[in-house]
Amino acid sequence: MTQCRSNSVSGLSGRFATPGDKSMSHRALMLGALAVGETRISGLLEGADVLATADAMRAMGAQIERSPDGIWSVHGVGVGGLREPASAIDMGNSGTGVRLLMGLVASQPIRAVFVGDESLSRRPMERVMKPLRQTTAQFTAAEGGCLPITVEGAINPLPLDYEVPVPSAQVKSAVLLAGLNTPGTTSVLEREATRDHTENMLRHFGVDVQVEDASAGRRISLTGPAELSPASVAVPGDPSSAAFPLVAAVITPGSDLTMTGVLINPLRAGLFDTLREMGADLSFDNERVEGGEKVADIRARFSRLKGVTVPAYRAPSMIDEFPILAIAAACAEGTTEMDGLAELRVKESDRLAAVATGLSANGVRVEEFEAGLTVHGAGGLVPGGGFVETFMDHRIAMAFLVLGCAAANPVTIDEAEMIATSFPDFEALMTKAGASLERG
Ligand code: S3P
Repeated sequence: MTQCRSNSVSGLSGRFATPGDKSMSHRALMLGALAVGETRISGLLEGADVLATADAMRAMGAQIERSPDGIWSVHGVGVGGLREPASAIDMGNSGTGVRLLMGLVASQPIRAVFVGDESLSRRPMERVMKPLRQTTAQFTAAEGGCLPITVEGAINPLPLDYEVPVPSAQVKSAVLLAGLNTPGTTSVLEREATRDHTENMLRHFGVDVQVEDASAGRRISLTGPAELSPASVAVPGDPSSAAFPLVAAVITPGSDLTMTGVLINPLRAGLFDTLREMGADLSFDNERVEGGEKVADIRARFSRLKGVTVPAYRAPSMIDEFPILAIAAACAEGTTEMDGLAELRVKESDRLAAVATGLSANGVRVEEFEAGLTVHGAGGLVPGGGFVETFMDHRIAMAFLVLGCAAANPVTIDEAEMIATSFPDFEALMTKAGASLERG
């Protein structure tokens, strides 16, 4: 375990390319592996989570290579053509990777064993096994419905019609991916809209995906067996990664920093709306469409923030951004209330507990509830000086290193390695921008 200390600095600046979107990178590799012919992917996130998905698809028969110019080439096996993996598939820390793959495998006549690291092995998988069992796939899990999990894919899969009980793009996607190799119409209803990358990218690969906005929510349907045509995919920058340097700039006096090519899909952009409501000086420049998604260069300048109440309906569009929002809230004047966040308890860590403990260790007054947090902002300099346990969670690690940039005393995290799951260049980028991060 390598600790990392973040010291206060006088300003962050520069213009930086945003690493590829993690959600879209996983999906591009999976769908490429199901198309016959060559899919070419640019901007793929080369973080550990996505590399685990690439290895998984290789283990199931796809040919995947990276050329020296950073373009990834995937030769797929066709829907229904996945090969039985010879050994257990290790998904590391990646909840998205394993849950989506369980969906894919459920309707293929193969057996696959999935394992993961300590954090992933504690996360709930019943949420995907429950609907997928109705395809007639069989699952054997460790205690509590956790990894390791063996999936015996259905030989004659049945189509699903499933209402997702919690807002989860992973559950929605697992069901849709199972539908690809299933005769008949697979349909998912979600009460609250979650990120729509699976739907959009399936269409990009030529699948007829129907999306209906009904009073009960969004209904997404597709009819299998589907055929995927190979495609070119340009992965835009990940707003969930851009969030860290941008908030660092907003809270650190003297800063002016731009992250380029950031995905601004409204189902992912809730943090930016919230930061603006808090008074952050954010501008979206050069808005354009890249790879079928809206992107912008986002410029952030130091701003005096005020506390806000984040509406619960906004949670799905910023579900991964609450740790970094809590850091902004700690620096704001007044109280920030966040609610409707029960899902944060089952992310890479229990993020409500991890954020509350980390903020308290740094002199910030915070109250933790069953499904929310109230942060009492310092209205200026946060005392800092704390030691933060990150619980193997990359976003907790980055959030508290960001706090260190603007706190009166250095902030130290217990472990920096997990940052590589989603943002391998985080420390290099931040250092170039002017942050003072010391490993060891
Ligand atoms: C993701 C969905 C979200 C999010 C995760 C990525 C995806 O998880 O937290 O980081 O790519 O579908 P849930 O589906 O559990 O909300």
